[in-house]
Amino acid sequence: MCGIVGYVGSRPSQDILLAGLARLEYRGYDSAGIAVIDESGELGMRKKAGKLSALRDSLTDAALPDGSTGIGHTRWATHGGPTDVNAHPHLADDGKLAVIHNGIIENFAALRSELEAEGVTFVSETDSEVAAALLGREYRASADLQQAFRAVVNRLEGAFTLLAMHENQPGLVVGARRNSPLVIGLGEGENFLGSDVAAFVEHTRNALAIGQDQIVSITPAAVSVTDFEGNTVEAQPFEVSWDAAAAEKGGWPSFMAKEVAEQPDAVANTIRGRIQGDAVVIPELDGLDELFIGINRVIITACGTASYAALVGKYAIEQWARVPVDVELAHEFRYRDPVIGDDTLVVSISQSGETMDTLMAVKYARERGARTLSVCNTQGATIPRESDAVVYTHAGPEVAVASTKAFSAQITALLLLGLHMGRVRGTLTSAVASDAVAELQSLPEKVAQVLAEETEHVSQLAGWMADTRSVLFLGRHVGFPIALEGALKLKEISYIHAEGFAAGELKHGPIALIEPGQPVFVIVPSPRHSSLVHSKVVSNIQEIRARGARVIVVAEEGDAAVLPYADEVIRIPLTGALFEPLLAVVPLQIFAMALATAKGLDVDQPRNLAKSVTVE
Ligand code: F6R
Repeated sequence: MCGIVGYVGSRPSQDILLAGLARLEYRGYDSAGIAVIDESGELGMRKKAGKLSALRDSLTDAALPDGSTGIGHTRWATHGGPTDVNAHPHLADDGKLAVIHNGIIENFAALRSELEAEGVTFVSETDSEVAAALLGREYRASADLQQAFRAVVNRLEGAFTLLAMHENQPGLVVGARRNSPLVIGLGEGENFLGSDVAAFVEHTRNALAIGQDQIVSITPAAVSVTDFEGNTVEAQPFEVSWDAAAAEKGGWPSFMAKEVAEQPDAVANTIRGRIQGDAVVIPELDGLDELFIGINRVIITACGTASYAALVGKYAIEQWARVPVDVELAHEFRYRDPVIGDDTLVVSISQSGETMDTLMAVKYARERGARTLSVCNTQGATIPRESDAVVYTHAGPEVAVASTKAFSAQITALLLLGLHMGRVRGTLTSAVASDAVAELQSLPEKVAQVLAEETEHVSQLAGWMADTRSVLFLGRHVGFPIALEGALKLKEISYIHAEGFAAGELKHGPIALIEPGQPVFVIVPSPRHSSLVHSKVVSNIQEIRARGARVIVVAEEGDAAVLPYADEVIRIPLTGALFEPLLAVVPLQIFAMALATAKGLDVDQPRNLAKSVTVE
């Protein structure tokens, strides 16, 4: 969703804010703005609809006087369309006070009426301007930004990260968070606030995580954190594990291209330190065996791509840890009456660690007494903080909106989790464990092999198909979630209609879609693992081929049974059944990326989307 950055120090803040916003632009890119308290103590503000470049151009045409206290915002519209007026910051107290906001203020209509009754007029359609106006009113009453801020956050309902500064108190930025992200960056004689560490990692890797319902005040020399009542609380320090270069394009045509290519590292880094001899031992879960013993059920909850990783996790955990696993879309989970209790382990998966739907599912599970574990890629994020335990994926920062390397790292983490759970629960033989460990260790190289051998072939294929209007994806067993992921990648970045199906489901309806020339990707499971499942998928291929489909097969090296029916064959190296998704997904990512590129689309920032969905 929106990206937020704040700075106080001694350097001119505009470039710092704009650079921070550039790193956060993946969170939202329909408008952007900054406010700065300049050397003479006056607050200046500029905001523009469109991408960050529109704001930059406007500042180049007519610069704002610079100063060393500032806040910046990049928006993904919720209330009110993406216009200059609806962009942030919003001003109050006759332009002396600036506020930026991420989230949704649920009681904004009541607050707006209250303020209108007092004579306040609003210029935008946003809920955020209501928070600004409320803060203006409170500030006039107390002339103290921190006190006024406390009064305001206690009146707001919903989800918010809010930052504010007032020209009467230069050198101070205050912020608060409820169900929406905010982290502090600690510098030397300067301090930062950001929606995530990308906002300030260029300047410092020392960070503090802020908890739920907390207020932070930063000055050049100090940082203080309190709860909403004003009681001091201890913030949790952490060091950012990657540097600014990791979040740069580094010569790649797009972040997505870079991130697809980084998958061997994402997989290797997620495995590193979690294998001891022939067994998987996840150090973060040390002493937490009770999470896995005595459970009757596992529910994995997530959204979008992460939910497809969850489906692969279901197969792995059931096979190795012998416990039933359900996968629940997080936004469906808490709106029914699920049967969960202290014998349920709820595993959440989130790259950002901030997805509101997933966060709410985790909170709901905890309230119902379930044990909770999160799989997350972002340090200091909310979901791991709300969970009993966390297994981090080490994919590094993922900037492109469409998830690629985080997906591979999530699957890797779930495979590790399945093996760890199997060991703890005593359901895994040492022979199975050591085969799995050997297979895991060979995966980074095999992913690299797919990238090396198939990128050009698949890109050409995509180039020939730039006019295609619909693509179908079929898979079976763990190939089914990969079919879903292949379709999602294509939809989100190339705007082409795509559907993923379980191959066995074809004859129950979707086969009616097949007409001559219809492109269909089929992820073929290895015949070495189950000749039965393999032969069923080959039959499915024959059925669609007989109806004129153009069949593109993803099959392991040496699988000759597919050759008579395939128009194109994409090869992946041999691996274990549960590990195939990590290899099969790569060509589908490349295909989506190449097709979007052939259509002249921005693969990193597809329309209508934002990287981190912090509203329900
Ligand atoms: C698709 C994509 C989304 C996310 C989903 C969950 O490419 O990235 O479907 O997977 O919004 O996001 P996280 O993992 O941050 O909770």
